[in-house]
Amino acid sequence: MDCGEWAGRSVLVTGGGSGIGAACGMALGIAGAMVLVADLAAEAAEAVTERIRATGGTAVAVAGNVRSAADAEAMVALAVERFGRLDAAVNNAGVAMDPRATADVPEDDWLRIVDVNLNGVFRCMAAEIRAMLPNRRGSIVNIASVLGTVGAAGLAPYVASKHGVIGLTRAAALDYARKGLRINAVCPGYIDTPMVHAEEGWPEREAYLARLHPMARLGTDAEVVELILFLLSDRAGFMTGGVHTVDGGYTAW
Ligand SMILES: NC(=O)c1ccc[n+]([C@@H]2O[C@H](COP(=O)([O-])OP(=O)(O)OC[C@H]3O[C@@H](n4cnc5c(N)ncnc54)[C@H](O)[C@@H]3O)[C@@H](O)[C@H]2O)c1
Repeated sequence: MDCGEWAGRSVLVTGGGSGIGAACGMALGIAGAMVLVADLAAEAAEAVTERIRATGGTAVAVAGNVRSAADAEAMVALAVERFGRLDAAVNNAGVAMDPRATADVPEDDWLRIVDVNLNGVFRCMAAEIRAMLPNRRGSIVNIASVLGTVGAAGLAPYVASKHGVIGLTRAAALDYARKGLRINAVCPGYIDTPMVHAEEGWPEREAYLARLHPMARLGTDAEVVELILFLLSDRAGFMTGGVHTVDGGYTAW
């Protein structure tokens, strides 16, 4: 990573208080970016900003719920207010679910999961695009999942929400391809974060999840962050509307 490329760049990371989002915020902060760490969990967002500042980086925490358009708007406005503009964003906030066959999924669960994982990306991305358009420059990465490209038994709301993130990414990329904005999706396999640790049956479940990947292990948040930072950077200047897996081969067999 060339630290110079992030110096003075402003980046918003949603769900930045934990897991992939926290690792992404840390990496960006260490690389010299000004990072807005947004999370529903205010204390977690604050803790990540403190860790970034402890390395000499620049970061601001904000409590925000991606289920609220007003919160999405406020996160972006705060980045512009504190850092002067918004150069890049990672729409990463998301929730998992306990497995249930499709017809047994309570409607409220369906609505909540789709509202966070898909509608939340729409709300944040729309606000980010509005802030970036006047500069005719910006890069956005939406975090989908391998379950945005293939199915999984018992996870209909999650699978549908992540397939939706991919469609949304492609459509938005086309809308702004000639306006200086690049928008890509990242599809991780199972990654060793608090989200999978919270799954029913952990830690015994880890061996089962590992076997789903040809590489026979879970990924690390750092391995996902490498891809995110590349896509956000100018080195990915000709990449938009892409769907990029980082999955230890999960979708190859
Ligand atoms: N861990 C995996 O195996 C894996 C695999 C593929 C995709 N993903 C996706 O990666 C993203 C990050 O997952 P993670 O594993 O780091 O999870 P995580 O649970 O460690 O972190 C998710 C963060 O999102 C925040 N969040 C949840 N709902 C929110 C809301 N309504 N508004 C704002 N913030 C909210 C949480 O507070 C948390 O800090 C998610 O979109 C997830 O679906 C994860």
